[in-house]
Amino acid sequence: MTIEISRIDPFDPRDVDAWWEAYAAAERADRGADAVVWSLAESRSELQQDSAVVDRRAFLLREGGEVVGSASLALPLKDNMHTAHLAISVPPENRRRGVGTAALTSLEAEAAASARMTLQASTSWPHELGPEGAGAPGREFARAHGYALALGDVQSRLKLPVDPAMLDRIDDEIADPTEGYALRSWVGRIPDDVVERWAILDATLETEAPTGELDIEPLKPDVDSIRESEELIDRQHRISFGTIALSSDGAAAAYSQLVASTDDGNAYQWGTLVRAADRGHRLGIAVKVANLRMLVAKAPQTRAVYTYNAESNAHMLAVNTLLGFRPSERLGELQKRLI
Ligand SMILES: CC(C)(COP(=O)(O)OP(=O)(O)OC[C@H]1O[C@@H](n2cnc3c(N)ncnc32)[C@H](O)[C@@H]1OP(=O)(O)O)[C@@H](O)C(=O)NCCC(=O)NCCS
Repeated sequence: MTIEISRIDPFDPRDVDAWWEAYAAAERADRGADAVVWSLAESRSELQQDSAVVDRRAFLLREGGEVVGSASLALPLKDNMHTAHLAISVPPENRRRGVGTAALTSLEAEAAASARMTLQASTSWPHELGPEGAGAPGREFARAHGYALALGDVQSRLKLPVDPAMLDRIDDEIADPTEGYALRSWVGRIPDDVVERWAILDATLETEAPTGELDIEPLKPDVDSIRESEELIDRQHRISFGTIALSSDGAAAAYSQLVASTDDGNAYQWGTLVRAADRGHRLGIAVKVANLRMLVAKAPQTRAVYTYNAESNAHMLAVNTLLGFRPSERLGELQKRLI
């Protein structure tokens, strides 16, 4: 069997459609019809963005001229330039014939050609399968190709609407411990006067949250990257909700961001972080509650909120449980070093 792998032009509608169809079919096969997948329009916008932060490449996998899968490669351009993120999607009817392996061989060679020796990917499986994901296609494929489970995450879902009395109760409980901090919330772009402070917290998220065995470095605070991400959110017609907690000296103590997709009717938790010096004041829950209140007020049609946390992140999982989130799936962050 010969698999032909070709890079697509993100402005070619037929190629992007075929790329997305294979991605969505592969995800839904393992995760069910309710799997949270990006919409076609959201994916197209991302692939088309002229990004200074990440070099995104998308590929179609063909056999005898027929599309049998899709793949992508993302190369960070500002930080963690030793890494590459790979994704491979093979719809169920084309599996176990070596399509995924052919794609992986090609992506690994392309990553190595850009001096990316730490390869990372992720795959989802049902929560009931447990933290190791034994038997899940993506997990077994990874195992067969030498990718370790570097970090195990839990996806949790909060079905909306939330009971406003529950939010009031939490706000009452946290009034004392959060005293002395000022919360600011907004819909859309982060206001200019707080964006630099936001960037400082945001840059530490990837390494302050549990990272397991992931080979990643802290990011440099970068307002331009944040503005680029907001530009994509706008083009995807998503709505961003942000809250920052400022300490009495004006420094950023905590932040949280929720992003609602107008295409799939769900909202997604992005970063939440409390600065080390300000932990123990219930700021994590304070910023999350503020965002949830805005979400309910401004996007009342939203069906559910999804969040991902490391299974080892007991504090964040406790905050989420208090808000009514329940485990819904698992996500494995996979990694292999080429040398
Ligand atoms: C993971 C995926 C890409 C594999 O595609 P594929 O074309 O079936 O992969 P291959 O045929 O090359 O499989 C190679 C080997 O991986 C292992 N493997 C793949 N799927 C497996 C499964 N369901 N159960 C057990 N082992 C499996 C086997 O060792 C297999 O070799 P074998 O068929 O000779 O036993 C596909 O199942 C998929 O798209 N899943 C959803 C998305 C995803 O998780 N992608 C992976 C992370 S990027």
